[in-house]
Amino acid sequence: MNIQVTLAANSENPLSIDVGSGISVATLIESFEERYLLGVSAMDETHREFVELVNRLGSAEKAAFIALFDELVRHTEQHFENENELMRETAFPAIREHTDEHQRVLGELKRIGNKVATGSTAVGRAYVREQLPSWFNLHAITMDSALAAHIRKTAV
Ligand SMILES: [Fe+2]
Ligand SMILES: [Fe+2]
Repeated sequence: MNIQVTLAANSENPLSIDVGSGISVATLIESFEERYLLGVSAMDETHREFVELVNRLGSAEKAAFIALFDELVRHTEQHFENENELMRETAFPAIREHTDEHQRVLGELKRIGNKVATGSTAVGRAYVREQLPSWFNLHAITMDSALAAHIRKTAV
């Protein structure tokens, strides 16, 4: 006797993305995933906001894109400053490399933000689409994850 197993159709799954359809994919970072949760609520909340902002940029028209990019720069500046402060407060051993990385990315964001503010949105769109999501994925699961583990340890 043969047993046939039928898998649920992927097209029914709201999380699936048709990468073959090109730029219609607006979600640049998949909605805040559990793997980003670090167990430090201040960091998790900021990261949730960051992901939301990046995804809104993914589908924004020009005027909205310019305003949102400026919001992203200011949000990221605060995001990094808060983490830098946490590192100082808890004497995080890798403070140097983590704050250096924040400074590098913030510098990049500000440089691109200056271009976007003058109406050159193409460079901003490319950055938000091609670089920021992969940077965030890597940063969250490496440097931020290490910082969160350190904070959780020193808090007890
Ligand atoms: Fe972070
Ligand atoms: Fe960080």
